Amino acid sequence: MRKKISLIGAGQIGGTLAHLIAIKELADVVLFDISAGIAKGKALDIAQSSGVEGFDVDLTGTDSYEDTKNSDVIIITAGVPRKPGMSRDDLLGTNLKIIKEVGLGIKKTSPNAFVICITNPLDVIVMALQKYSNLPTNKVVGMAGILDTSRFKYFLAKELNISIKEIDTLVLGGHGDFMVPMPNRTTIGKKPLKEFISQKKISTENLENIVDRTRKGGAEIIKLLEKGSAFYAPASSGVEMAESYLKNQKKVLPCAAFLNGEYGVKNLYAGVPVVIGEKGVEKIVELKLDNEEKKYFNKSIEAVNELFNAAKNIDPSLK
Ligand code: APR
Repeated sequence: MRKKISLIGAGQIGGTLAHLIAIKELADVVLFDISAGIAKGKALDIAQSSGVEGFDVDLTGTDSYEDTKNSDVIIITAGVPRKPGMSRDDLLGTNLKIIKEVGLGIKKTSPNAFVICITNPLDVIVMALQKYSNLPTNKVVGMAGILDTSRFKYFLAKELNISIKEIDTLVLGGHGDFMVPMPNRTTIGKKPLKEFISQKKISTENLENIVDRTRKGGAEIIKLLEKGSAFYAPASSGVEMAESYLKNQKKVLPCAAFLNGEYGVKNLYAGVPVVIGEKGVEKIVELKLDNEEKKYFNKSIEAVNELFNAAKNIDPSLK
């Protein structure tokens, strides 16, 4: 029997997720949205591309959680995106209410699903989602690190005029302005980035600009789009997580995962490398951070903690 992926939120990211999942024939897709018409319309539109793309999966649209019942994977993008000039944190009040509804909905219908949250502000929303749904922490993860890492890789590849496939790096921490790109852990064609700096193939200043551009990668796109936020790269990133789970690939992927002492953080979601396989988050990979990396990581954790406190003020049931 084919697997079932339900997409909660059939907006820009939800629709793109559905199309990618169908083209990859990963699973049957249920698009869920409070606007049933959007969910049904996108499901039908994408299904009608199967004649060209040649995929054999079912796509349906709904506004009833009953139809998402017993999903293997749930990907959540329900919520509002940022407008130009807004930070992800500005979305907290609105998206927290939406995520409560979603958490309660999936708890009843898909208690065994692997749940990937994309709704922002990511780390706090995924933490709240785990509490509202009461699903095990290893089955509830947030998508951010893969996207941030992919942005960092892209900018480096362009700067160094080399295939993006040659770049190995990662971005840790919360999915906010204090995220932590890791130039010291970056290799290009297996060679450390440092060598490229000493050979003057990239200046320290340009590297700093790239780190900064990565941190502000989402805002740059919002400004250009004027309406809505990034959706192609976020959708690709979410699909990579779903695929690693469904195919038990055990890929090491940077994700917002529940930390229980790892990296010196307890009881909080934040971006770290994890192994995703058939059991969900099977392992948190602990990297030994140098002092500088630790400083930035802790600063990012502080920002997540602060925002979670704000969430608790909005909804005291999260305490
Ligand atoms: N239940 C289900 N769907 C909902 C709910 C709800 N309670 N509330 C809103 N939605 C739906 C909207 O109807 C809309 O179709 O969520 C969808 C969101 O889609 P977009 O507005 O296109 O937003 P998108 O770009 O997909 O981003 C969604 O992901 O990256 C984050 O910051 C982004 O928080 C935002 C989220």
